[in-house]
Amino acid sequence: MNQDPKRFTITAALPYTNGPVHIGHLAGVYVPADIYARFQRLQGKEVAFVCGSDEHGVPITIKAKKEGITPQEVVDKYHAIIKQSFEDFGITFDNYSRTSAKVHHDTASEFFKKLYDDGKFVEEVTEQLYDEEASQFLADRFVVGTCPKCGNEESYGDQCENCGTSHNATDLINPKSAITGATPTLKETRHWFLPLDQYEPFLKQWILKDHKKDWKTNVYGQCKSWIDDGLRPRAVTRDLDWGIPVPVDGAEGKVLYVWFDAPIGYISATKEWAAREGKDWEPYWKSDDTKMLHFIGKDNIVFHCIIFPSMLKADGNYILPENVPANEFLNLEGNKISTSKNWAVWLHEYLEDFPNQQDVLRYVLTANAPETKDNDFTWADFQQRNNSELVAIFGNFINRVTVLTHKYYDGVVPEPSAFSEIDIQTLKELKAYPAVIESSIERYRFREAQAELMNVARLGNKYLADEEPWKTIKTDEARTKTVMYVALQIATALAVLSEPFLPFTSTKLKNILNVRSSTVETSLKWNDVSTKETLLPTGHTINQSELLFSKIEGEQIQKQLDKLETSKKKNEAMNTKAEPQKETIQFDDFTKLDMRVGTILEAEKMPKTKKLLVLKVDTGIDVRTIVSGIAESFRAEEIIGKQVTVLVNLAPRALRGVESQGMILMTENAEGKLVFVNPGEAGVTNGATIN
Ligand code: MF3
Ligand code: ZN
Repeated sequence: MNQDPKRFTITAALPYTNGPVHIGHLAGVYVPADIYARFQRLQGKEVAFVCGSDEHGVPITIKAKKEGITPQEVVDKYHAIIKQSFEDFGITFDNYSRTSAKVHHDTASEFFKKLYDDGKFVEEVTEQLYDEEASQFLADRFVVGTCPKCGNEESYGDQCENCGTSHNATDLINPKSAITGATPTLKETRHWFLPLDQYEPFLKQWILKDHKKDWKTNVYGQCKSWIDDGLRPRAVTRDLDWGIPVPVDGAEGKVLYVWFDAPIGYISATKEWAAREGKDWEPYWKSDDTKMLHFIGKDNIVFHCIIFPSMLKADGNYILPENVPANEFLNLEGNKISTSKNWAVWLHEYLEDFPNQQDVLRYVLTANAPETKDNDFTWADFQQRNNSELVAIFGNFINRVTVLTHKYYDGVVPEPSAFSEIDIQTLKELKAYPAVIESSIERYRFREAQAELMNVARLGNKYLADEEPWKTIKTDEARTKTVMYVALQIATALAVLSEPFLPFTSTKLKNILNVRSSTVETSLKWNDVSTKETLLPTGHTINQSELLFSKIEGEQIQKQLDKLETSKKKNEAMNTKAEPQKETIQFDDFTKLDMRVGTILEAEKMPKTKKLLVLKVDTGIDVRTIVSGIAESFRAEEIIGKQVTVLVNLAPRALRGVESQGMILMTENAEGKLVFVNPGEAGVTNGATIN
C-alpha cells in the first residue's frame, strides 16, 4: 500500500449484545478507534468508521435462557443501550449497524455462497460434542473444558480466554456441557470447514514477513505462535437455531458460525452507510488505495489476523487490513472486569453520576490505555488526573487566557507588536506539535499522543507564568497585547488538537473562542496549527468564558468505591458455599413441625442483654411471648407490625427468666445481617400454616 491512502476503513469490534458496555470496552477499542477516525477526518481524509452489534452466537442464547426471554428480545434490549452509550461518549461511527439487519444476513449469506461455489470449503461429516440431556450439539460457549495449549480449566469450545488460542471443541480435555453440566458424547454431523492449513503460506508471508515491523509486538507474537503451531481446518457452520441459516441445500437446522458472520458485519455496515450517503462501498473494501484497520481487544486477535483475512483472501476480491492495533485488557481496582460479577464501571451508570463529564473518562482511559500490557483503572487515579491535569493544567490555562482577554480587551483579540525571542520560540514549539502528535497517533500510541497534547497546555501555562501579563498590564501595554495574542493562538491550537481526544471540550472551547462562527474560517484543520501564521486574528471577538473542567470531590469517588464494595460483598456471599444438606427425614418428621404466619405486636429489649428481644406475637391461635436473639440486627421499634414465620409447637423454654413460647424463623443476608423469613405475599393472615 502506498504511504498516502486516499481513504480509511476503520472498524471497531462489534460488541456482543448480551450486556451493556463498560470502561474496558471503551479503553481497549472504541476510544482509540474514535481518536484515530477523528484525527483522519481532521486531516481531511475520507473515512468510513463502522461498527455494530454482534447479535448472533452462543452468549446471546445463554443470556436469553437465563432471563427467560427470546434471543431477539435480548439483542433488541442491549443494542439500544449500547448504541446510546457510544453516542453519549462521542464515538463518531459513520454507521452503527447490527448483524440481525437484513443487509447483513444477505451479505454474509452471499459471502458464504461464493466461497461455497468456488470450492473453498471442505465439507465433512465429523463427530462433534453432543449433550444427550439437552438434545443439542455443543459448540463454542456451550462447552467448557481444559485448554489443550495452556491448561486453563475454563476454556470455551472455540477459544481459550486465558491464552487466546482458538480451537475446535473436540480439542478440549474433559469437556462439560455448559447447559446441563453433563459430559458430552460424540455424534456425527455434517459441516463446512475453512481449510486454514492451506492459507499458511499466505499468512506466513503477509504477517510474518510483510508486517513484522509495523504490527504491535503483542499482536505479531500471538500470530507467530499460532502459525508456528500449525493451522488446521475450522468449521464455519454450527448446529444451532440462532444465527444466519447456512444458505445451501441440505443444511437445514444449521447456521453460520458467529465468528464467520460477525466480521462480515464490517462489510454490511459499510454497505448500509454507503447506501444512505449515496456513496460506493466497494472502494472501501476492494481498492488498494484504502487503508483498512481493525481496532479490537486482545481476545479477538486470532479472528482478525488469521481467520477473517483467510476468508477475505479466499474470496479474492478484498483488500486486507493494514494493521490490527489490538489492546490488552483494562482491570478495575486491581481485579479483572467482569460482567457476571458486576465488577465494572458501566458507561450508562457513569453518566448518571458524572453528567456531561464524558471527556474526563475518555481522558483517563487514554492516559491509562492498556496499549502494551494489562492496565488498572482506579477511582483515585481518575480523580487525580481530573483535578491535577485537566483542571489544573488544561482548564487553568484556558481560563486565564479567556478571563484576561475579557478583562483587558472586552474579549477582542489584541494586536501584537514585535515578537520577542521567547514569543518566536514559543510559537515555533507550538507549530511543531501537530506533527509530534500525528506521529504518535499513526503508530497507535494514543497515550503518548494525548500526553503531547497536554504539553501544549503546559507550554501555554509556562508562557503566561514567565511573561506575567497581569503584571505588564500596569507598565507595558504593547507587550501585554503581544503576550495575550500569543496565548490566544495557543488556546486556539488546543481547541483544534484536542478534538480527537476530548471532543466535548474541544467543542466547548471552540464556542468560547467563537471560532465556530462565520467571522473566522469555520473549520480549522489539524495542519492549520503548523501552517497558518494566525489561528485567531486580531480584532476577532471571543465569547464569555466558561469552565471546561471542574474539580471532582472525595465524596464522589467514595460513592463509586462503595458501589464496588457492594458488588464485592455480593460476590463473596454468592461464593460462600451453602452448608451441606442435613440427613434425610421422612414426611412425618416434617409434619411434626407446626409453622404459622404471625405478626409481631410488641417488642422490647430484654434488660441487661445484648442479643435478646422479648416479643408479643399474634400467631392466629393466640398472642404469645417469644424471646428472640435478634437484638443485634434490629431495633425493637422497627419490627413492630412485621409479619413473620413462627414455629409454634416448640417446647417452651425459659430465657433469663422469661418463658419463650416458640421460635421466629430467621436467615442471614449477604452482609451477615439477620433477616426474617416472612411470607412476602400480600393477603396472608395470621395463623396460616406453612406446609
Ligand atoms: N463480539 C465479539 C466480542 O465481543 C467481537 C466481534 S468482532 C467481529 O468479542 F469482528 F466479529 F465483528
Ligand atoms: Zn489456553
